[in-house]
Amino acid sequence: MENAISIQNITKLYGGLRAVDDFSLEVRSGTIFGLLGPNGAGKTTLIKILTTLMRPTSGSASVEGNDIQANGKEVRRLIGVVPQENNLDRYLTARENLTLHARMHGMRPRDFNPRIDELLELIGLAGRQHDFPDTFSGGMQRRLVVARALVHNPHVLFLDEPTAGLDPQSRRALWDYVQSLRSKMTIFLTTHYMDEAEELCERIVIMDHGRILVDGTSEQLKEAFAHSHIYELEFRADTDRYEELIRSLPFIESFERRGGVFRLSLPGEEYLKPLMDSIGSSDIKKICLQEPSLEEVFLELTGRKVRE
Ligand SMILES: Nc1ncnc2c1ncn2[C@@H]1O[C@H](COP(=O)(O)OP(=O)(O)O)[C@@H](O)[C@H]1O
Ligand SMILES: [Mg+2]
Repeated sequence: MENAISIQNITKLYGGLRAVDDFSLEVRSGTIFGLLGPNGAGKTTLIKILTTLMRPTSGSASVEGNDIQANGKEVRRLIGVVPQENNLDRYLTARENLTLHARMHGMRPRDFNPRIDELLELIGLAGRQHDFPDTFSGGMQRRLVVARALVHNPHVLFLDEPTAGLDPQSRRALWDYVQSLRSKMTIFLTTHYMDEAEELCERIVIMDHGRILVDGTSEQLKEAFAHSHIYELEFRADTDRYEELIRSLPFIESFERRGGVFRLSLPGEEYLKPLMDSIGSSDIKKICLQEPSLEEVFLELTGRKVRE
């Protein structure tokens, strides 16, 4: 099947608030898709609708061809869900949490026991399987929630901010794990971490106020939306004189000096030659282009105001 997820004109109103606004999207099978957006953008609402936890106000969607409303039961069989908040049962051990999930999916012990052994091994919790989730670190709990979502071999995995609040080591471990699932299933993840989206997702949609703002690969988004060309320059000598000279050039968009290092932006790369011609090259110790970041694109599109 070409598209694992297909969304047509989904709108969700909470009273007068339009949390998701006429949202349409197709996600190809076997890809890792990233939905980015600031707090309150509507990411979790959309995931709740796609995972049949909530009904849309209008519009429709399907997972592997199954309508989320008419065929909810089949959809739930096909998907694994890692919700934004860890919702482990704290009165059950790690293994019991996985077993309960398997039973709810109608699996038999001879099928689920080896699968659970394998998953516990993979997430590095085999040695802690008889302990309670409250005794686990945030990273361990998160890995357990991911493992639980995979017990019944889903075709489509939904991850709602999988690494929020985790330390760098746990984030990295979870990324590696998600990478290892690449092409085995379709993964739909939300995040507001740009590095996470860049690392994992082959396609990124940035949304805000319930709507899609942009759609593409991280390279395409950076190419299209990070307009500035930022260079770092360092001189061997006469730094003050060069500062004065550069500041006087009419095409310099912004200029910042930190110690001996200049950081300046040009309106386009065609201004690099005039810049070089005016300063001459003999005293330049270092010049480098700063790649535009996905974070700049995100801030440009969604603004700098703090949300919720
Ligand atoms: N159950 C709810 N009732 C009313 N408003 C809600 C509810 N859930 C979310 N919202 C509001 O809907 C908007 C989208 O929220 P959400 O989908 O959680 O966004 P995100 O996951 O991108 O942070 C926010 O303005 C939020 O406050
Ligand atoms: Mg959310």
